[in-house]
This record gives sequence, structure tokens and C-alpha cells, in this order.
Amino acid sequence: MNVPYFRPSIGEQERAAVNGVLDSGWLTTGYLTRRFETAFAAYTGARHAVAVNSCTAALHLALEAAGIREGDIVLVPAMTFAATAEVVRYLGARPVLVDCDPVTLCADPEAMWQTARTWAAGGRLKAMMPMHYGGQMADVFRLKAIADEFGMTMIEDAAHTLPAHIQDAEGNWHAAGTTAAITCFSFYANKCITTGEGGMLVTDDEQIAGRAQMMSLHGLSKNAWNRFEAKGSWYYEIVDAGFKYNLTDIASAIGLAQLEKAERFWQQRREVAARYEAGLTEWSEYVQTPREIAGRKSSWHLYPIRLHLNRLSIDRAQFIEELKQRGITCSVHWMPLHLHPYYRRTYGYRVEDFPVASAEWPRLISLPIFPGMRGEEVDYVCRSIGEVAAAHHRGTLPAPACA
Ligand SMILES: Cc1ncc(COP(=O)(O)O)c(C=O)c1O
Repeated sequence: MNVPYFRPSIGEQERAAVNGVLDSGWLTTGYLTRRFETAFAAYTGARHAVAVNSCTAALHLALEAAGIREGDIVLVPAMTFAATAEVVRYLGARPVLVDCDPVTLCADPEAMWQTARTWAAGGRLKAMMPMHYGGQMADVFRLKAIADEFGMTMIEDAAHTLPAHIQDAEGNWHAAGTTAAITCFSFYANKCITTGEGGMLVTDDEQIAGRAQMMSLHGLSKNAWNRFEAKGSWYYEIVDAGFKYNLTDIASAIGLAQLEKAERFWQQRREVAARYEAGLTEWSEYVQTPREIAGRKSSWHLYPIRLHLNRLSIDRAQFIEELKQRGITCSVHWMPLHLHPYYRRTYGYRVEDFPVASAEWPRLISLPIFPGMRGEEVDYVCRSIGEVAAAHHRGTLPAPACA
């Protein structure tokens, strides 16, 4: 059996929507993109949404709109994707890394506080960017309190979370997109909903939304997006040096169709996660499964298991290779940023600077998870994990010759 890491769920609705755009005579950013923004804001519960061509673009615009400038300091989790930190560099600011919580692998609030305290002097500490690892939200209420204490803007990297929820101390549930000053989502091909490539910035702040909207299209004055239409105006002004980050109507048409299915996709991901949990219990000696912690509802964008390497005679790379030989494609999220050449070279980070991220990443394997994944596929992955683990149980190692 072949089990891909991801299989997109694209149906007739998306095809018809794209054909509608192709036949309409208006391909780029237009009314469908405005509709996608309105629908997305309503779905997440945020006041404003700005559609762009990637989450990376949304994160860049978020920092720009929050006033981050050259020389500023932004706190970023060590355990995240390249995008979260690189956008800080786009603005000439400095990403300062923070270790993760060993359970959720999201930024650890205690480490965030310690790092904020270390970098607070000098007045350049401006923002923090929690990321919701795999779709389970970071401890955003504690993080927000730290952001407020040090005068930082909180910008959430919610690339993995649509939808995801967290409960506050009073028992009220909050959706991703409503707990930070600005939240950024991804519609990359394998994300919870997709537009092929795409992203969305959401915020309750009208000024931030307006700034991001303007900067997403070359910094042109308001409503320049429809300047080629009979109803639009040819006249615009360049208000600032912006970027080319607008989302096309072709992508937005797919996004609108996908958004309608977001709850169903979520339910299907939850079912896959529950089936993995049941199927892997038998192999708990070798693998630790991801868990939703109390008061959080994960989007289950990822299903990251962690190997108990002390009970295996092979490492993670070989484990992945053996699954591949059985037709199963896996991934790893992620090698933490401080171990990458750029961050080592530029900021002198060392392995021991972030002990949790350094210890956890060699154990991580992201298993296939996607809406429409068949029960027999999940069972096959579980069975294969069991076979590989049992074949490489440490106890099966030959005894050392001198023993
Ligand atoms: C945590 C995280 N942030 C940001 C991004 C960037 O998203 P995009 O590809 O839409 O720019 C990704 C992409 O995988 C991600 O995993």
C-alpha cells in the first residue's frame, strides 16, 4: 500500500468556482477576494481579514504594520518553520529565539518571560510571535500577559490552525484568530484549507488591517485593486514602498469553497488522529503520540509522533526510511531554527541554547494526516510502525563481543 504524506481534498465545488473565475474576465484580486476576506473574518471571529499570497507574506505585513523596524527585537520560537523568523530579517530586525514547552512544542511561556527580561533593556524589544505547533494553540493567555508586561505586540503564526480553540480561566473558548493583535494563516497546499498558495492576516484593529491591505499591493492608495474596472478609478497614489502580496480571485474562489468545508475537514482530521491514537497504543513502548491538552482543541494539521530512541537500535532517519520502503511518506517538523547554518552563523546559536527543542527534534516524525485519509491507510501506518519498531527493538541488538 502507498500512503502519501498528504492528498489534497479538491472537489467539484472548487473546479466550478475556478472555471467561473476563468470565464468571468477578472482573474486577479477582485470581488471574490473581498468575499473570501469577509467570509474568513466571520469564520474566525476577527473583525478584519486581509487575503495575501502566503502566510509568510501575512507575517511580513503583520510585523510591518505593527511598526517593527531595523534594529528592533522580536521573540520567535526556536521550534518553528523558516518563515516565522525570516520575516523579522526582511525588516532588518533581530529574531531572538525562545525554547519550547516539552509537551506542546509551542513556545514555553517561562522561557519567553526569561528571554523578554534579558532583552528588555534598550527599548528595542517590540513583538513576540507564538506559533501553534501542529495545530494545538500555544498558551496564548500567559504569552499575552508577558507581551503586555514588556510592551510587545503579539503576532500569532497560525499557519497550522484552522480551526483551533483554547479555553480561558473562566471556561470560555476562543478561536485562533481572536487571541492576538494580529494572526496569520496559511493556505499552502497541505494546510487545513488550501488555495494552492495563500494566506490571511486577521486583526480587530482597523488601522493595522488598512496598512496591511495597502502594503500588500505596492503601497498604492485605497481601492487601487479595481483600477482597471469601469467602476474603479485610474488614479492612485503611491503612499509607501509596499510589496506584491495580493491574492488572486482564482485562489480566492478555491478558498471560498474550501472554507465551507473547513468544519468537515476538521472533523475528518480528528477522526484520523483518534484512529492513530487507538492504533498506536499497542506500540507505546516505542512511540509517544501527540495529545490534546485540557482546554485546547487542535486543528490536527500535523500528527507528530516522538520515538523512544532509547528503546530502538535505529535513529529517526532510518525509521523514516523503513516506513518509506513500506510505501509510507513522512515528514519532520522541524529541525529547530538554532541548528540551521544561517542562525548559527549569524547569531552564534549553539545546540545547548535550547535544550528542549534540541532534545525533542531528533525524535519527531510527522505521520500522514489529511481529510479523506482512509481507515485502512491509518491502520497500515500503525501496523508498519509496530513492525519497524519491533524489528529494531534495542533488546534485539547482539550482545557486545566482550560481554
Ligand atoms: C509554522 C509555519 N509558519 C509559516 C509558514 C509559511 O506558510 P506559507 O507557505 O503559506 O508562506 C508555514 C508553512 O508551512 C509554517 O509551517
